[in-house]
Amino acid sequence: MKAAIRLNYGDPSAIKVTSWPRPIPQPHEVLIKVHATTVNRTDCGVLQGKPYVFRFFVGWPRPRFPVLGTDFAGVVEEIGANVTKFNLGDRVWGFDDNGLPSQAEYLVYGEGKNISLIPEGITFAQAAASAEAAHYAVNFMRHARLPGKADVLVNGGTGGIGSALIQLLKANGIKVTATAPSEHLEKVYTLAADRVWDFEKESFLNMDRKFDVIFDAVGKSTFRKCSKLLKPKGQYLSSELGDGIENIYLPLLTKLKGGKRVIFPLPNNIRGSMKVIQEMLKTGTFKPLIDSEFLLDEAALAYQYVLSGKKIGNVILNCV
Ligand SMILES: NC(=O)c1ccc[n+]([C@@H]2O[C@H](COP(=O)([O-])OP(=O)(O)OC[C@H]3O[C@@H](n4cnc5c(N)ncnc54)[C@H](OP(=O)(O)O)[C@@H]3O)[C@@H](O)[C@H]2O)c1
Repeated sequence: MKAAIRLNYGDPSAIKVTSWPRPIPQPHEVLIKVHATTVNRTDCGVLQGKPYVFRFFVGWPRPRFPVLGTDFAGVVEEIGANVTKFNLGDRVWGFDDNGLPSQAEYLVYGEGKNISLIPEGITFAQAAASAEAAHYAVNFMRHARLPGKADVLVNGGTGGIGSALIQLLKANGIKVTATAPSEHLEKVYTLAADRVWDFEKESFLNMDRKFDVIFDAVGKSTFRKCSKLLKPKGQYLSSELGDGIENIYLPLLTKLKGGKRVIFPLPNNIRGSMKVIQEMLKTGTFKPLIDSEFLLDEAALAYQYVLSGKKIGNVILNCV
């Protein structure tokens, strides 16, 4: 089969799309013909082995899987002898934030892992684009305490996480202000944000408004800077660890102090996130934002584009 591989951590120039042995399913595994995956921020972490601590999860000193990938959407083509949950021909999707060898024509995956049926009417590209960033968005929601009529600011409404988060917040009846670059203001309004702030014209820190929760979905701000925009019991969450990993220790310090708090949304429970998103895909309340599509052969180009920081939403890699 064809696969996007790299043998050591590095930049996109280390990626080769080459012939690779097709995996064989074990008794509890299914063989999936991969139709689409995304190239996302977690993939870039898996490619580069960054942050360095990530290598304890994805392989030390070399990557555990030479084949790249973290998510998939495809069709079950073979099933192991003990598989009970899936049938041949099932359309399935899944995600693992510690990497899985999905940027290939075929993937084997345990039936008990983060795998589920793709709802009817949802394309492979849409399913793949509903995995990584949507999981982090659900995870953000899980960690914040959102009062009934919360007023929330999402910094980075065009990002994979931010664009999913806006939809999740709106589906829960929450008032959302989001930031976006000038050229994408309209796109963020179509995600149903109540108000969109052009961060290229003026820093969002100049807003004359107070929020219950600030989600920095691009990790570009700090609690200290955002504090003036928070209500007295407001919460600040970021997708990044922050300067000197401050977002790891500030939750404890701010909790002890009382008042405005930092919460670190340690990611967990991928299957729980997939269930939430699957229901929203079924009801049409979640539509992943897709930026562009590449072919498996163009994997290195797709990674370069994502690493440029210019993508909006999700970048798809089509494997068939
Ligand atoms: N904590 C975790 O486990 C975890 C997991 C995955 C990702 N992450 C982190 O989460 C962050 C978001 O990832 P993502 O894939 O959702 O992002 P992304 O899609 O790459 O976000 C890029 C988008 O954000 C916009 N943007 C850039 N700077 C901005 C700013 N200062 N204010 C508002 N918007 C800005 C960009 O607009 P322009 O094109 O105009 O620059 C672009 O549209 C990344 O920092 C990533 O490392 C964390």
